[in-house]
Amino acid sequence: MRELFDKTQWIRDQFPVLKRKVHGHPLVYLDNGATTQKPQSVIDRVTRFLSEEYSTVHRGVYLMSQESTEFCETVRSTIARFVNARRPEEVIFTSGTTAAINLAATALGKSVVTPGGEIVITQMEHHANIVPWQQVALATGATLKIAPIMPDGSVDLEAFERTLTPKTQIVAFPHISNVLGTVNPVAQMTAMAKTVGAIVVVDGAQGIAHHPVDVQAMGCDFYCFSAHKMYGPTGVGVLVGRYDLMDQLPPVQFGGDMIETVTFEKSTFAKLPAKFEAGTPPITEIIGMGAAVEFIESIGWNYILGHDQAILNYALAGLETIPGIQLIGTAPGKSAIISFVMDGVHPHDVGTILDMEGVAVRVGHHCAQPLMGVYDVPATIRASFSVYNTESDADGLLSALQKVRHYFQ
Ligand code: ALA
Repeated sequence: MRELFDKTQWIRDQFPVLKRKVHGHPLVYLDNGATTQKPQSVIDRVTRFLSEEYSTVHRGVYLMSQESTEFCETVRSTIARFVNARRPEEVIFTSGTTAAINLAATALGKSVVTPGGEIVITQMEHHANIVPWQQVALATGATLKIAPIMPDGSVDLEAFERTLTPKTQIVAFPHISNVLGTVNPVAQMTAMAKTVGAIVVVDGAQGIAHHPVDVQAMGCDFYCFSAHKMYGPTGVGVLVGRYDLMDQLPPVQFGGDMIETVTFEKSTFAKLPAKFEAGTPPITEIIGMGAAVEFIESIGWNYILGHDQAILNYALAGLETIPGIQLIGTAPGKSAIISFVMDGVHPHDVGTILDMEGVAVRVGHHCAQPLMGVYDVPATIRASFSVYNTESDADGLLSALQKVRHYFQ
């Protein structure tokens, strides 16, 4: 464990913002489920592109545009390798997880989902994996079905299996819950969904930086993620989709870059991936995302997985010493996302006091209002850890919580 935390310090030193103070205290940044900080390598790559290399992609015959195109297409290949897609054309650049899920939902809603069909999601979804499917159900006359979770925050797999029927057309669920930290058995759930012929969409927003992703081993049809939760820039994300399926789906947004030919009478559309990438893409952010993948690969999954469990166990052991803490989400093998409530104190008060101690956590419903209803709480406090968090960050959280406990005896 000591070795793990020594490497953490080396990683931490690559994140300039972690040196800052907040309200006079060293920053303890524990809102990584919302967004992660950026390493120097990502900052440098984006700065170099903007200061020395910037130009558009796909359209220019001039050298700089060809270079920008090459940079972006290299990132597409890097991402394809990172998630083990079958080919780079399975990687569609979007503006983030929400846009990726909406793209998949809209395209499937126009072509696959039919009146009387069924869409299955789970109780642990955040809004971006609920509302798009609700809209598809409304537009098509399909039914949205909700698979329940167990009290510890695992999906109830028997109930999940019972929710699936020959009418199930889409199954969508998260790789890792943004509130509970539950790591879902994606391959097993996908295999269950495939027995009824459903298309599987995995929300990988919390998964991509915490677990290795192999879309072929998972067997899913779509996997969605954002760069900003994996040390990259905001404004960019990815829809990874099975080529033969996406090739059959209709485009969702129309405009430049996604066409083959246009006349005033009719248009024909480009092949993948351009068919789903209308307009100028977020060029700078795509290039930053490539540097973020290189950063993750420079750390390695062995370290990331080991550190995730070590920091989780360390923080959980400390939380046990604070009276009146109730954990929300205790599934075995969970990721280092800890949601909890404190007896007698509203989560927003906890968040405000923690902030005064330099500790940044998220408080609220975490864009998962229905899940709050399942646990009968209005909100939780969520500490979500990342590769740069040390034992001393966990100690900072714990001592700030001791202060909260002291104020609200
Ligand atoms: N981005 C949201 C979160 O903080 C959903 O978990």
